[in-house]
Amino acid sequence: MNKLADLIERDAHQLGNLLTAEGGKLYYGAYYEAVHTANTLRYFCGWCDKITGKTIPADGPFFTYTRKEPIGVVGQIVPWNFSLTLTALKWGPALATGCTIVLKPAEQTPLCILYLAALTKEAGFPNGVINVIPGYGPTAGAAVSSHPDIVKVAFTGSTQVGKLIMETAAKSNLKKVSLELGGKSPLIVLDDAGVDEAVQIAHDGIFMHQGQICCAGSRTYVHEKLYDEFVQKSKIKAEARKIGDPFDNSVQHGPQIDEDSFKKVMDYIKSGKEQGAHLECGGDRFGDKGYFVKPTVFSNVTDDMKIAREEIFGPVQSIIKFKTIEEVIERANDTLYGLAAGVITKDINKALTIANALEAGSMWVNCFFALGPQSPFGGYKLSGLGRECGEESLDEYLEVKTVAVKLPVKL
Ligand code: NAI
Ligand code: MG
Repeated sequence: MNKLADLIERDAHQLGNLLTAEGGKLYYGAYYEAVHTANTLRYFCGWCDKITGKTIPADGPFFTYTRKEPIGVVGQIVPWNFSLTLTALKWGPALATGCTIVLKPAEQTPLCILYLAALTKEAGFPNGVINVIPGYGPTAGAAVSSHPDIVKVAFTGSTQVGKLIMETAAKSNLKKVSLELGGKSPLIVLDDAGVDEAVQIAHDGIFMHQGQICCAGSRTYVHEKLYDEFVQKSKIKAEARKIGDPFDNSVQHGPQIDEDSFKKVMDYIKSGKEQGAHLECGGDRFGDKGYFVKPTVFSNVTDDMKIAREEIFGPVQSIIKFKTIEEVIERANDTLYGLAAGVITKDINKALTIANALEAGSMWVNCFFALGPQSPFGGYKLSGLGRECGEESLDEYLEVKTVAVKLPVKL
């Protein structure tokens, strides 16, 4: 695993190039993603000799202990938005626990993953440990989730397909399932926040990678005292974003992944206008080639609007007004999702009250996207099942065996 990490670092430019060419991700982000992939594998490599069972003081004359064993052959299905990182988050715990892998990359971004697969050969992985099978979801993906010899499936993608995977897993061999799905993550800006800092955090939290992030801060709740200033400054920032060729390092905003996704985002923008949100900026296509959507800011968004309820997966910021902490907690939790949430405040008591009250797998205080291989990540409610990253992710790939040895009552 460390050798593979070395090779990924050696070829990070090449991996970044492939990811930008096929996925439209900004090149510097793609390069960083390759480096992060190497770091993730190194983190998980450290777990290989630290997975232990317990000795248990069970009733009776028994010496009882547990062993953690690799679950077996695992299937992994990844999307296109963070192909390299999401692959590393799945390979890492599977390899550290001793499982073998069949991975299906997203149909939009197979090349960077095939390149990774070639590096595993160069690193000396035995044949058959990692298998990459490109293809479409209903064929290659479904073959993974329904296969009788695959005993666990890990999926990242839409909630709709996550449900299908679970159904297929149940109908085939009851394989263990972990799902990392969509979100509608709130970011709450309290009245004591510094407006400029909060605007920047919220802006990055929604516009990074054109909003194509499962845990994007897609509901920006701003206290009424700061609301007008916050909206004005957010609009200026969104309008200033440089749109263009993702290989140009001065560009901050590239295209959406494909035509379907582009159309879906444009439909949500249309519904925002129709349902009475105020369009501050953006709202239409940039240029006449490619699938560029101008960074879009809506104010006067209310909780019942589609843009405040459904996952858009695009560069659309919805700024929503609130008055009290009690009220904003209730409104932030009034969603089917529960992947992440954020709060910006100088008051530690308020920060922790909100952190405890929100139904979300990750809670960020005065920051957003504080993600890393060491910290568990996953969703409450329709955002998923199980956790990736951290020690918790290892359990997804392990069986626990209890061994009880009868002891002589008398020697
Ligand atoms: P998707 O959920 O359809 O695709 C993700 C992966 O699942 C791909 O590898 C795909 O080939 C595979 N897949 C699709 N149908 C399958 C099936 N029946 N059985 C097994 N595997 C299957 O996501 P898509 O179409 O790329 O994007 C649609 C929406 O999903 C986005 O607009 C966004 O809202 C959400 N999404 C969420 C992601 C996340 O990070 N949680 C990542 C990508 C999409
Ligand atoms: Mg799909």
